Amino acid sequence: MSNTTPDATHNTQNTAQQAEKPWNGRFTEPTDAFVEAFTASVTFDQRMYQQDIAGSVAHAKMLAHIGVLSNSEKVQIIDGLTQIKATIEAGEFNWSITLEDVHMNIEAALTDLIGVTGKKLHTGRSRNDQVATDIRLYLRDEIDLIVSELKRLQKALIELAEQEADTIMPGFTHLQTAQPVTFGHHMLAWFENLERDRSRFIDCRKRVNIMPLGAAALAGTTYPIDRKFTAQELGFEGICENSLDAVSDRDFAIELTANAALLMTHLSRFSEELILWASAQFNFIELSDSFCTGSSIMPQKKNPDVPELVRGKTGRVNGHLISLLTLMKGQPLAYNKDNQEDKEPLFDTVDTLKGSLKVYADMMQHVTVNKESMREAAIRGFSTATDLADYLVRAGVPFRDAHEVVGKAVRLGVDSHRDLAEISLQELQQFSDKIQSDVFDVLTLEGSVSARNHLGGTAPDQVRAAVKRARERVEKKP
Ligand code: ARG
Repeated sequence: MSNTTPDATHNTQNTAQQAEKPWNGRFTEPTDAFVEAFTASVTFDQRMYQQDIAGSVAHAKMLAHIGVLSNSEKVQIIDGLTQIKATIEAGEFNWSITLEDVHMNIEAALTDLIGVTGKKLHTGRSRNDQVATDIRLYLRDEIDLIVSELKRLQKALIELAEQEADTIMPGFTHLQTAQPVTFGHHMLAWFENLERDRSRFIDCRKRVNIMPLGAAALAGTTYPIDRKFTAQELGFEGICENSLDAVSDRDFAIELTANAALLMTHLSRFSEELILWASAQFNFIELSDSFCTGSSIMPQKKNPDVPELVRGKTGRVNGHLISLLTLMKGQPLAYNKDNQEDKEPLFDTVDTLKGSLKVYADMMQHVTVNKESMREAAIRGFSTATDLADYLVRAGVPFRDAHEVVGKAVRLGVDSHRDLAEISLQELQQFSDKIQSDVFDVLTLEGSVSARNHLGGTAPDQVRAAVKRARERVEKKP
């Protein structure tokens, strides 16, 4: 991929002639040009430049704090790094493949800029603990963005649930009409899925926000470093306890990707429903034009591309999870170059997830609900059959016998093209003399949903109560 194509990223150059590799000392022959490109990560890890610089600033402050750097050296380093950050942000930084990765590119630029003091920054540090620190800082910020986008989507679902608390649709099992439910209740089912996702990301953040810096290459360092000082500078909640583990652990990346895969899987299932519901055959909802596209050949088409794409992108995130697990499964302690392969799947996971959440949060604010179609579908499917059975049980008929009676009534309805509520009392009574005129109260869709009036039930009053609780839950600080 990008690491085999040196010029894949704009502004990245192969500057073998100008750049000196920091580890060149023991080598007598230059790196093969293709190997150089093959082993470099700068085309993709430059994305972590902010974290890399923040980590270096904190490290320099710590080195000054323990007396390894003088105060003026520290100031020079910080000023230099600040200038480099501005150069990168202005798009004027020359990323060099020869300098392999974001870490060595920035360090070399610092030395170019401030001279020999720049070479002191790497004291008591290795790229192994540096890269692990960068990824954790990067993911910490991304988790916060993911959680806030997730909340936005959850709020859109709460709004929709409140607005459609009384709207009746067929509930399905096996994609066959089962019992009537309210559309608000259905939206809140997806809210619950996302609420679990949100709590998984918040939980995962605790294990991301632990500092590896100080582990150096693998064994720690001979300098009297103050890891608590650095951790505090960087806002880490804890410090990796074991240096070997610190540089080799990527559990946090796998965990985040697993959470992302599960969240995408939820969105994929939800997408499947939206796609079905938006079809002419269901006609339950209409997605806003701004989230659909047309066909270049069939003028009548309005395609639900957004949910389809989210469903499709789920496969890619699930694949990244398998990539990361497989990446780690054969690695002995401690750091191995294999780990460089963690970044592209991880970055793509974050991008895909954030994009999918954003588009979903926007799209769900513009869904039109076709109440009449849903209602007709619920009636057509004999969705109140269970209510008739429950009615008979209340009148003293054993449930299995009641099931049989209702089966016969449904048969009559199918044969005469009528809903249960349209069959006359006399006709119903031929199946059971326990049926009285009050049966029609339970045969209506409204009667059916409002009877399920308990915590977690589909009754409109329950949906309104659940909406209220959902609002509090989503606002509550994690
Ligand atoms: N680019 C490397 C990575 O992404 C940084 C660490 C390299 N360390 C080393 N000793 N080669 O993992």
